Amino acid sequence: MLLAGLKAGNPFELEEIETASVDALRQLQVVRMRQIIRHAFENSAPYKAKCLAASVGPDDFMRLEDLQKFPFCVKQDFRDHYPYGMFAVPLERVARIHASSGTTGKPAVVGYTQNDLATWAGLVARSLRAAGARAGDRVHNAYNYGLFTGGMGSHDGAQALGVTVIPVSGGQTERQVNLLVDLKPTIIMVTPSYLLNIADEFDRQGRSLDEIALRVALVGAEPWTEAMRSEINRRLNLQAVDYYGISEIIGPGVACECIETLDGPTLWEDHFYPEIIDPETGSVLPDGEWGELVITTLTKEALPVIRYRTRDITRLLPGTARPMRRLDRFAGRSDDMMIIRGVNVFPSQIEEQILLVPQLGGHFQIEIHRQGALDHVAINVELRAGSADAPAADIGKELGKRIKTMVGISATVNVVPVGSVERSQGKAVRVIDHRKML
Ligand code: DLL
Repeated sequence: MLLAGLKAGNPFELEEIETASVDALRQLQVVRMRQIIRHAFENSAPYKAKCLAASVGPDDFMRLEDLQKFPFCVKQDFRDHYPYGMFAVPLERVARIHASSGTTGKPAVVGYTQNDLATWAGLVARSLRAAGARAGDRVHNAYNYGLFTGGMGSHDGAQALGVTVIPVSGGQTERQVNLLVDLKPTIIMVTPSYLLNIADEFDRQGRSLDEIALRVALVGAEPWTEAMRSEINRRLNLQAVDYYGISEIIGPGVACECIETLDGPTLWEDHFYPEIIDPETGSVLPDGEWGELVITTLTKEALPVIRYRTRDITRLLPGTARPMRRLDRFAGRSDDMMIIRGVNVFPSQIEEQILLVPQLGGHFQIEIHRQGALDHVAINVELRAGSADAPAADIGKELGKRIKTMVGISATVNVVPVGSVERSQGKAVRVIDHRKML
């Protein structure tokens, strides 16, 4: 049975498609792609208009390579057709609405039919299982509940898998720690920056690792680094697993790392077809090359999305634990990329260098100013708790040198006391670009 959702049998066992051959997977993708292009073309007026403008239609898709003939979908399409214009089913068939955060401009409003919700729950359940969830686990869900897809999406998946869900949501960090100690969850679902915040509070309360039972964290919703993974694993004595998703595609559960290999998130290719493109030219790049991730939903009813430009920079790697391809760790989003005096820099490159300095914790914020004709970067980074006596000026100099050598930019480093950088309750704000506010 290759359909969406979980098998009727034991939900903790692999689904058939997770052990299928790559050929079987490609065949399924061709069948589903043909259906979804037709569905979008016939039922979503904006998509039909785009196709007609590009002189393509559903009959032009025969093989997976034909996808390249079809136009991209971008975030602006959601804005132009806000709120419901992109939907491909009548509104009365939409069972739930979510929205992306929309820090700039209108949020992207996304909708799900009952079948879509079942597919989504099945994929989050699959992600949890890949991350090592087993019968009897208790899942502390610290992703925000509400219009953000992270909270309810992760919740429904945990429930579908049949583990115990603790719907904590984000915020009230003191209480988060109390619940970890009292209710003894074995799995936590949370953003990396907020998990670090929880680890700080755990230390502040003087708790010992014997008081909690966490084994695994499903960490995602924002860029993070291998250095951050080591920090989180060590501080909370658990295994952090990379958990990826994006609202316009479905929410969390588009891809998840498998605990047995820990080598980048496996993209659930029976429901999402990936391509990597050159962000400048839009041309498709071969597997293994870095570029922008483009995803086509293969089974979504309410909101089929063909060739969505995620703006996430990664590359496709061959499958290991599953036949489906993996994503390399995201370098970041193309919109987060800072161009500093001509050098392209992602905040994750700065994070990596910060965590290599033993006296520094992972809390930081980057400010960019224009001084005269030149860009000036200041990095405000906190000392690690317990390093209050460390010589801040020397540490700042060391980090500045590392950034100059490894990242290639000059930055003023301000080493600040613990608690000075604004704490994230969900997605951290890493960059304040004063140039954009002029
Ligand atoms: O953040 C969905 C999600 C919720 C994923 C909970 C994982 C966990 P959006 O708010 O639409 O949806 O933001 C999507 O977040 O394009 C990436 O830039 C970033 N992102 C998500 N997961 C990861 C990850 C949710 N594992 C945007 N690593 C995406 C790096 C991630 N970046």
